[in-house]
Amino acid sequence: MSDRNNRVPFDEDNYTHNINRNNERMLDRRGFMKTLAGAAGVFAISSLPWGAVAAKELLGLGEKEYPHQKIVNVKDIAIGDSVDFNFPSEHDSAILIRLSDKRYVAYQNACTHLRCPVYWVKEEKEMVCPCHHGKFDAGTGAPTAGPPRRPLPGIQVEVSNGGVYAVKVKRYEA
Ligand code: FES
Repeated sequence: MSDRNNRVPFDEDNYTHNINRNNERMLDRRGFMKTLAGAAGVFAISSLPWGAVAAKELLGLGEKEYPHQKIVNVKDIAIGDSVDFNFPSEHDSAILIRLSDKRYVAYQNACTHLRCPVYWVKEEKEMVCPCHHGKFDAGTGAPTAGPPRRPLPGIQVEVSNGGVYAVKVKRYEA
């Protein structure tokens, strides 16, 4: 058995550091069989009446509600501007954009290509990933240019009592 070097040479505190991610993609035969058995299980469960919800949970695609967290006061964010925040934990960076008077959108701002932070470019009305020139539609989170193929996971927000609150997270697609 080869001794693969899975060690990370320093603390991983940067989205561009993707040594672990490369190794995650490597499947040996046992890993492949486990994946196959897991896929068969998910398929079996998803054919049950309540299966769609259960399968989403298994795959980590479901939405999850967290304690509501205030992001910003409505009066402190102008139309067209954005605010960075952390949600659901202090380690998950996210971005809120006010697209119009009543429309707010929020996303986890880690690019779905290799997880670089994504920025709101007001002039272009687009979310841009500087690492490999990925772009995302601010209204939907869908990729519009560059290597990303999956949408940015959305964060559901609510406006109440003059504040904008983060409520739910759509988890990353596998
Ligand atoms: S990490 Fe965003 S485009 Fe590559």
